[in-house]
Amino acid sequence: MSPFSRRQFVKLAAAASVTPLIPSFVYGDSASRTQRVVVHSDWPIGLIRPEFHGHFAEHLGSCVYGGLWVGKDSPIPNINGYRKQAVEYLKELGVPVLRWPGGCYADDYHWRDGIGPVSQRPKRVNIHWGGYVEDGSFGTHEFIGLCRLIGAEPYLAGNVGSGNPEELRNWVEYCNMPKGSTLAEERAKNGSREPFKVKYWGVGNENWGCGGWMKPEVYADHYRRFSVYVRKYGDTEPMLIASGPNGNDARWTRSFMDRLDGGAPGGISMHYYEGGNDAPLNFSAANVTEQFAIFKKVEEAIIQQRAILNGYREGSNIALLLDEWGVWDKIQGADEKANGALWQQSTIRSAVAAGLGLNLFNRQADKLFMCNIAQLVNVLQSLLLTNGPEGKACVRTTTYHAFSLFKAHRSNTAVHTESEDSSTAGISVSASKKGNSLVLSFVNPRLDADVDVECALRGVTGKSGSAQILHDTDWNAYNSFDNPEHVLPKSHPVVIEGTRVAISLPRLSVATVVIATA
Ligand code: AHR
Repeated sequence: MSPFSRRQFVKLAAAASVTPLIPSFVYGDSASRTQRVVVHSDWPIGLIRPEFHGHFAEHLGSCVYGGLWVGKDSPIPNINGYRKQAVEYLKELGVPVLRWPGGCYADDYHWRDGIGPVSQRPKRVNIHWGGYVEDGSFGTHEFIGLCRLIGAEPYLAGNVGSGNPEELRNWVEYCNMPKGSTLAEERAKNGSREPFKVKYWGVGNENWGCGGWMKPEVYADHYRRFSVYVRKYGDTEPMLIASGPNGNDARWTRSFMDRLDGGAPGGISMHYYEGGNDAPLNFSAANVTEQFAIFKKVEEAIIQQRAILNGYREGSNIALLLDEWGVWDKIQGADEKANGALWQQSTIRSAVAAGLGLNLFNRQADKLFMCNIAQLVNVLQSLLLTNGPEGKACVRTTTYHAFSLFKAHRSNTAVHTESEDSSTAGISVSASKKGNSLVLSFVNPRLDADVDVECALRGVTGKSGSAQILHDTDWNAYNSFDNPEHVLPKSHPVVIEGTRVAISLPRLSVATVVIATA
């Protein structure tokens, strides 16, 4: 039974209701205040792979240098050079997989620049992100060390744009050959006798753009050639991930697949950012709803790209990855100057956007393999922010907290849901189950309406449960360095009565209900 009586619930729900101040053009008709949802616990979709909550760290701005990596001699508290507070927060959340070193940076990164004694590593210009000089102190060993520290599976993106097949071939052998070869011995000399056992290998990044500005047919030819030389060492079978479309670019995927003509990759990675037309802390109502509406297109893209792949012989064996996603707002020059390139604050709007994304991944669980939000620290829709590369402060963003609310779904089976309003203004919903536990997530993307959700459970009966919510009525609310816990998940009333679940969702909220079932 719920800890709340029906009367308490109605009272709390009413208290949460605020008069909307949103111009009518944003939504048109006045909002419905109740939405009915059906959860079919006996109608499975597929496994919610923990990798749907994957991450990405690029040598960009202060993501790696100053964000994750401060160096062993830094006055900032660190664990062998890794920012201590960041490591602790990331361990607490759990990072299933981490992609590195780019992004665009990957196609100009030469892995040999990042191994061996740091003092002897060459200094290279980061041509994509500001033309600053890197000292290479964060290389393959440091990246694997970070992954081990936070429990993430490493995912390396190889260089196709300015690299060659030999370079990628050797990086794989360096990382994965157990012993005996010159490259394996070199790895041991550099500190790791144990192989790194890296499974995931990207063959370039955005090769339609910064990764060489290739036509899909040209990239397919490169892919074919590179793929020949990437091999299994010891017991580590590499999974090759081809550079996929920009958004839902069907022409890229078809032309790549046509030209490939066999030799299918393990996966294909699509990138889909949810652009924003305002500065992160100054969104207009219209631009908030416009940004949220992009998630509908992302969901369509996943369905369509999956269908394109399935149309090819062996196509259904090709995993679909959403390798880069997240809100990309109008980046402010002052933020970049103070904190590094593409530094962006995360507001409750960003958290709602994260919830819309994570919900749709659950709903499309049978079509996806991995989804990596961009990026982990200090860049775009990051989980953590520091006050510049030299700053000691490290805060968990609203996006971090949205991810924490979805943790309960990891490794569950996603199940079908139905909703009476599947428009972009409706409550977004997803559900999953494992054993005697049912997990429901709801997102209210509306700026002008609190909504009561009436949920009917099919195939299962709820015994008890609890809800957590992340919410703020001000869509520009965020966790600042002065007030790092301004927006935090809180307990929230929910009614669980057998096959009925009722919850009141204030505008701009992300909520997860965990139910013990009979
Ligand atoms: O995440 C920032 C950049 O966005 C990446 O480097 C690139 O892959 C994408 O265009």
